[in-house]
Amino acid sequence: MNSNPSLSASPLIRLEAVSKTFTLPDGRAFEAVKSVSLDMAEGRVFGLIGKSGAGKSTLLRMINLLERPDAGRVLVDGRDLTQLSKRELRETRQGIGMIFQQFNLLQNASVYENVAFPLKLHGNRGRAAIEARVRECLEVVGLTEKIHNYPAQLSGGQKQRVAIARALAPHPKVLLCDEPTSALDTETTRSVLDTLREINQRLGVTIVIVTHELSVVHALCDHVAVLENGQLVERFDVDDHATPRVSTLGRELAQEQVREDILKEHAARIEAAGPTSQAA
Ligand SMILES: Nc1ncnc2c1ncn2[C@@H]1O[C@H](COP(=O)(O)OP(=O)(O)O)[C@@H](O)[C@H]1O
Ligand SMILES: [Mg+2]
Repeated sequence: MNSNPSLSASPLIRLEAVSKTFTLPDGRAFEAVKSVSLDMAEGRVFGLIGKSGAGKSTLLRMINLLERPDAGRVLVDGRDLTQLSKRELRETRQGIGMIFQQFNLLQNASVYENVAFPLKLHGNRGRAAIEARVRECLEVVGLTEKIHNYPAQLSGGQKQRVAIARALAPHPKVLLCDEPTSALDTETTRSVLDTLREINQRLGVTIVIVTHELSVVHALCDHVAVLENGQLVERFDVDDHATPRVSTLGRELAQEQVREDILKEHAARIEAAGPTSQAA
C-alpha cells in the first residue's frame, strides 16, 4: 500500500525541478522559483503557502504554463506541457481553470457573457448548449438570478462566484486559485470556500490554492506545500499531527489547528450539557 501522497503512481500534476528567473528592471537576475518538485494527486485540495514574494503565484502559474519555467518539466494528466505546440497547449488549458484575487471579469460583459466566454472561445458548441452550460455553472455557484447583471452591479463575493463559474464552464479537471478570498471579508470568504469545497467534493475537481491565510488552509486544504524564497521547504497532510513541522508557517498552522480543535470541543461540551449549563 502506498500511503505517501508524494509517491503516488500517477499524480494529476507533477512539477519536476521547475525553476524561474526574472530579469529585474535594473538588469539583475532574480531567481523566483528554485528547482521545485511537487506531485499533486487527483481529487484533492492542495494549498501552496508562504510569505509574500515566496514564489507562490509564479509556481501556480507554471501549472498552466502562464509562466514558462526556464528549467524542469510540468506534467498535467501525463502530458508534458513544456513540449506542446501552441494549439495543443490551448486545448490542454481548457482542462485547467483559474481564478484570481481581483476576479479578472470582463467589465463590459454580463454575467452570462463572462461565463460563456471560454465556451465561445473554444467554440464547437451551439448556442443552446452554451446557454445550458452557463446556467449549470451559475447554479453550482448559486448565482442564477444574476445572469443578466454586469460585474459593477455585484458584490466582491458575487464577482468571485462568476469567476468560479467561468473557470468551471469548460469542465476542467483542475482549478488553480490565486489568493481567491484575499479581497473578501470573513463571512464572504467562508461562503466562497464552502463553494470551492463543494466543487472539489461533488464535481471531483482537483484544486490548487495559493494563500497566505492559514484560516483558508484550515478550512479547505487536504495537503500543503510551504515555499520560502522560491524553495519548497516542506509538505504535509493537514490532518497529519504526528510528523513535526519544520517551517514557521507549518508550525503556526499546527497551532491554529489545535486552537480550533479546543474551541470545537468546548462548543460540543456546552451543547451536550444543554442550554441551562451556560449560566452555571
Ligand atoms: N514578471 C516578473 N518580473 C520580475 N520579477 C517578478 C515577476 N513576477 C514575479 N517577480 C518576483 O518574483 C518573486 C516571487 O513572486 P510571486 O510568485 O508573485 O510571489 P508570491 O505569490 O509568493 O507573493 C517576487 O519577489 C516578485 O517580485
Ligand atoms: Mg502571489
